[in-house]
Amino acid sequence: MKELFQMDRQDYNPAGKVYERPSARAIILKDGKVLLNHIAVHDCYEFPGGGIEAGETPEEALQREVTEETGQIVVPESIREFGIVIRRQRDSKDPDGIFEQLNYYYLCDVTEETVPRKPDEHEIVEGAEPVWVDSLATPIYRNRKAFERIGEPFMQREMRVMDMADEELRKQSWERTEEAAIRTLGDADYTGMLSFVKHTLEDARTEGVSGIGMHKLEFGYTRYEHTKRVLGWAKRLYDMTPDKEGLRYEDLMIATIFHDIGRAVSEQTGEDHAKAGVSLTRNWLLENGYDPPRAEYIAGMVGSHSEKWRMRDPEIDRNLLMLMEADLLDDMGLLGIVMDTMIVRARKAEATFYDCYNHYERYTHPMQHDCPLVTPEANALWNEKTESTDRFMEQYRKDILFGGENYIGYR
Ligand SMILES: [Fe+2]
Ligand SMILES: [Fe+2]
Repeated sequence: MKELFQMDRQDYNPAGKVYERPSARAIILKDGKVLLNHIAVHDCYEFPGGGIEAGETPEEALQREVTEETGQIVVPESIREFGIVIRRQRDSKDPDGIFEQLNYYYLCDVTEETVPRKPDEHEIVEGAEPVWVDSLATPIYRNRKAFERIGEPFMQREMRVMDMADEELRKQSWERTEEAAIRTLGDADYTGMLSFVKHTLEDARTEGVSGIGMHKLEFGYTRYEHTKRVLGWAKRLYDMTPDKEGLRYEDLMIATIFHDIGRAVSEQTGEDHAKAGVSLTRNWLLENGYDPPRAEYIAGMVGSHSEKWRMRDPEIDRNLLMLMEADLLDDMGLLGIVMDTMIVRARKAEATFYDCYNHYERYTHPMQHDCPLVTPEANALWNEKTESTDRFMEQYRKDILFGGENYIGYR
């Protein structure tokens, strides 16, 4: 099994007798939640599991311990190795001996059915109770605090393993959220074109074309993430708009998915990214059975989406206008503040809170207060964002002024 890490006190005689105490623990992820035992006396958490008894395999011990402690039944075929943590220190009973604890961690699933738990004496005294948690952030935090107070090595060990499992959990929950969001777009199958756009943009990145400007690339800003957010705004605008005359929902969604695909080539060729997207869009649609006039119409929207000055033209196509408004709604608001703050940070290693505030006041604030949007629905969404940025920055300003302007004024 892969070694996760070692906790070795190196306070023993290396030639001493080794006293082994192996244990098996379960990382059970289900519907975006993780099963842990909360230990009330220390207000800390651990993965269910415990000591491997003589004659037992780690997998057998895992199943027995999980059921005793939590009442959950492990699906034996679902057991996958996660990794091992090795603890070594001088034995408490034999000063010449080495206490060695091998902690085997497994990922596994549980059945729908549960049985009554059978906690042992020790677990009852400590107030151990199984809990399903949405996130490992709080358990990690609690274990750190408990370790600072009590210093039990298991608290630290569990905290470190939770940190590793947390990454997996977050990835899974993010993917599930994304799939659910894509399903809400409607019955049409958008997944094929989404993955085409994703791969086209990603391949361009790996070939060394940023497509997004150096600073933005530095902190993992990808055009595909932008595309998905714009898609969300476009759907929201469509749903909010009472008069749907002339709106073609599916065409709007498809044009939005493809709108920035030209970024995959524009940086290399110097071409306008919207224009560069036209043929990529048209070809994909024709190859996938869309009729030519429709493919032409959608590709046309992609080709014109950056001509934002046309937004005030009363004759503008409503679908194109909606795409433009959705595009502009992204990157602003709190997302804009975080983005600009990161730009400040990326440009200046010694960037301070003041630098971030000044950057905001000079660049982000005027942009946020110069709404380029036309329809009342888009304006309402923009204003919502402006309210949150204004409130955030007002408090931020107070916070960096030594506890508030009133205090300074009083002095
Ligand atoms: Fe664009
Ligand atoms: Fe865009």
